Amino acid sequence: MTNVSDDFLWGAATSPHQVEGNNTNSGFWRTERLIPGMQRSGDALDSYHRYREDMKLLAEAGLNSYRFGIEWARIEPDDGAFSVAELQHYRRMIDYALELGLEPVITLNHFSVPRWFEDQGDWNSPSAVAKFQRYVTQATSILEDVQWVLTMNEPNVLTKLAALPVIGAALARGDGGAVTDTMKALPPETFSERLIEIHSAARQVVRDRTPANVGWSIAAQAFTPTEGNESKYREVFWAFEGIYYEASREDDFIGIQAYTSQPIDADGPVDHPPAENNTLTGAAFRPDSLGIAVRQAWEATGGVPILVTENGIATSDDAQRVAYTRGALDGLFEAMDDGVDVRGYIHWSLLDNYEWGHWTPTYGLIEVDRETFERRPKASLAWLGSVSKNAGRLT
Ligand code: BGC
Repeated sequence: MTNVSDDFLWGAATSPHQVEGNNTNSGFWRTERLIPGMQRSGDALDSYHRYREDMKLLAEAGLNSYRFGIEWARIEPDDGAFSVAELQHYRRMIDYALELGLEPVITLNHFSVPRWFEDQGDWNSPSAVAKFQRYVTQATSILEDVQWVLTMNEPNVLTKLAALPVIGAALARGDGGAVTDTMKALPPETFSERLIEIHSAARQVVRDRTPANVGWSIAAQAFTPTEGNESKYREVFWAFEGIYYEASREDDFIGIQAYTSQPIDADGPVDHPPAENNTLTGAAFRPDSLGIAVRQAWEATGGVPILVTENGIATSDDAQRVAYTRGALDGLFEAMDDGVDVRGYIHWSLLDNYEWGHWTPTYGLIEVDRETFERRPKASLAWLGSVSKNAGRLT
């Protein structure tokens, strides 16, 4: 059996905009009203007020860590104006996690940014680096004893989110072709480089001001080449992941987030073919994607330690969730047996949360009644808790 150390992190994750509710100063709150057909986050799961309940369920199940984010739009609702009360709110969350024996893994930015930042040109603005650094300086004032910090979530997906207003406009004029083209386009390298610059600047602030291990999390697509298309594979892998892995060589760890796998043919990533066990987002059921992804990241970073910061499945069938997770952990353990240094496994997600425009794809270990906010743990939560308590033994 794989040797899983005592300090291996076993946890689940959320992000502020997806669970807190009423994140009204964020740009995404506005985007929700801009794009036709988008569902809104509204009260979300009211975790802003109910985080104690969420963490308690996680800890009582036997898990030892909680990845959550602190929301820039709350901490700096106006350009340069910081809210002490909101910083204290997030500090109370950290304190409560520690009290329960949960190691906090803190994300400084999980997609959503303040509305004023978006108005100034978002991550592309010439002042973006300085503005994010200034926020991180304030944020780190409450992280003095936190051990794990992610500067940014999935820069390689951010490049897609930044295109949302373009997609919204294309949808509004009924131009389906433009929507598909925008979604499939390779991210512009200048934008990737900008995000890398922002990450490095933030990493320095975190290093100067906290004892934390610092990194960021990458959406790992577990791409594989189809025969004869190795060079297209290399091009796509570089644009979507390789460029970020390269930039992570100086990080203390790399967060890996894997859900499915896609072959690459001459045109790029192949759409998931319809299949009965496709997930609620239409993605192929590929528990093996995690093993593939961690091996690719290990190689591409030249051996930076890995923390799995997201892995999960959008399904309404909780038995399928357990089957998926068991398969994913099998692949992860095999990679560890082969020498890949993995520090923890954090499942996405703790709760059935707001999936960036939709409420239907449910990833949670806990279901939430959106009228009463009652939390109803699923069998998968207890199952993952027992894996954690048994040092990774899969039942
Ligand atoms: C994101 C999450 C999202 C999840 C499932 C990741 O891309 O970090 O915010 O909910 O995938 O789609």
